[in-house]
Amino acid sequence: METVLSGIRPTGNLHLGNYFGALSNFVEMQNEHNCYFFIADYHSLTTHPTPKDLHGNVRQVLVEYLAAGLDPEKSTLYVQSDVPEVNELYLFLNMNAYIGELERCTSFKDKIRQQPQNVNAGLMTYPTLMAADILIHRATKVPVGKDQEQHLELTRQFSNRFNRMYSVDYFPEPQAFNFGKELVKIPGLNGSGKMGKSEGEGNAIFLADEPEVIRKKVMKAVTDSGPTQHNQEKPEVIQNIFQLMKVVSTPDTYNYFDERYNSCSIRYGDMKKQLAEDMIVFTEPMRERIKAISADEVYIANAARIGREKARESASKTIREVREIIGFRNF
Ligand code: TRP
Repeated sequence: METVLSGIRPTGNLHLGNYFGALSNFVEMQNEHNCYFFIADYHSLTTHPTPKDLHGNVRQVLVEYLAAGLDPEKSTLYVQSDVPEVNELYLFLNMNAYIGELERCTSFKDKIRQQPQNVNAGLMTYPTLMAADILIHRATKVPVGKDQEQHLELTRQFSNRFNRMYSVDYFPEPQAFNFGKELVKIPGLNGSGKMGKSEGEGNAIFLADEPEVIRKKVMKAVTDSGPTQHNQEKPEVIQNIFQLMKVVSTPDTYNYFDERYNSCSIRYGDMKKQLAEDMIVFTEPMRERIKAISADEVYIANAARIGREKARESASKTIREVREIIGFRNF
């Protein structure tokens, strides 16, 4: 059994890309591994959200994680800021993190370009906070996308450096985790290769989207003027629609439209209508659960409490041991 840990920055509603890329795998993983799933609200402070946005976004992710099937009893599902031990490890790790290696980080360089008016120290030490998240539970597997690999590499650096500095074999070398299978790529609806919140209006289908909204977005999806030769290769925008159909529709439906495409008799309008209806059916159970959970403050508070207690138990043990290793002693 591995200790798996995943963090998500709270940006509000989750979309089908989040679901197929990570969430559906998390739900399965809960039964096999010791799982920690947390909402990285400290990390989101690097871009200065308002207090209302901060809380609302954390709440939405928590509700949707629960609605998708994460079980607070099976896994440890928690909010980062509920676990103050993370800050202490962050401080310790910062003492051994070199400014040079933090400045060289691609994500930091990108942020400097994106928000030149707000190049705060938290942005630069984002990787040490992430390392603290991972090492506080001594996690060994971290499901992350390509964009986070460099952060994970730094985590291994910090971990090894700590072990070397104090001649211990305390922290593990956490590795990226790809769920042992090809990841399903979920394209966006506006021709962009990836479903994402920041990829433009109407690009993403959110788990909480109402049927009418799903219909509108799907009907607006980018297509082309249609195939002119039998069995011709599909251009990217068309592949995108087919890929979405592959994940929410039945194989029969998919094959029907595939044949229609290959024989140049496809009508994209019909295909999109079908795709929208299949998406609505697919997301319905989650949509209903999101509504029910969102209306139940007691359930949410209880889930957060269970997560907090389990996370703090694990985190405080690590902090106790790390303080001992570093040389802090009680009087
Ligand atoms: N940096 C991650 C992201 O932007 C979120 C994150 C924070 C995270 N702490 C983590 C992911 C620890 C994995 C492990 O997506």
